[in-house]
Amino acid sequence: MKVIKAANYDELSRKAAQIIASVVWNNPRSVLGLATGSTPIGTYKELVRMNKEGDLDFSQVTTVNLDEYAGLDPANDQSYRYFMNDNLFNHINIDKNNTHVPNGLAADLAAEGARYDAFIDSLGGTDIQLLGIGHDGHIGFNEPDDVFYKATHEVKLDAMTIKANARFFASEEQVPRRAITMGMWAIMQSKKILLIASGDDKRDIVERSINGPVTPKVPASILQCHRDVTVIYTY
Ligand code: GLP
Repeated sequence: MKVIKAANYDELSRKAAQIIASVVWNNPRSVLGLATGSTPIGTYKELVRMNKEGDLDFSQVTTVNLDEYAGLDPANDQSYRYFMNDNLFNHINIDKNNTHVPNGLAADLAAEGARYDAFIDSLGGTDIQLLGIGHDGHIGFNEPDDVFYKATHEVKLDAMTIKANARFFASEEQVPRRAITMGMWAIMQSKKILLIASGDDKRDIVERSINGPVTPKVPASILQCHRDVTVIYTY
């Protein structure tokens, strides 16, 4: 595991964007695993800047996102599809048909999970997976549990996650209680994993994830078992 301390959020964002950009420079047809949350916003801004300045071409890139709220229409401004369009896809030369987010409106979320994993498999997996981290150690929406879930699956969000994500909604009541998330297979098959964490409130969980025991009680701790993980943090 490579662990990099950034001086501040801007530096974290620049470094993260450079790592993602270098994957695309190496292979213009890369498959990028992308994440939502407030932490990657600066990284996406940097990628947009590189694209606008002509240094990074997304025309042949495919993306797959980690997760989506259950029951939110993609047009809903709180959906993760909307977030990705708004923070990245609308501002770069990517073909939207090549951008993929799990369908939170699917009537059968288990079937949607199986479809999503088969789709990722058909792409040959992701070249890099970007991750944020929740205060409880969740990656995607894989919450602390007794087991690591392998498949893309439906989850019930923890009270802590609902509270943390309430800042993006008008009230806590409006935060969906359920979501669909990539499981550990789709995350861990990525050739490269990049985890970014910003803020003092993430210090303890990042420390436990990278140096503590590997346990489903701290979902991000499974990353210790991957051969190419970079963690960039600032706090
Ligand atoms: C959400 C997302 C996660 C993300 C987490 C942390 O729950 N599903 O993928 O890592 O939030 O968000 P933030 O970066 O805003 O702290």
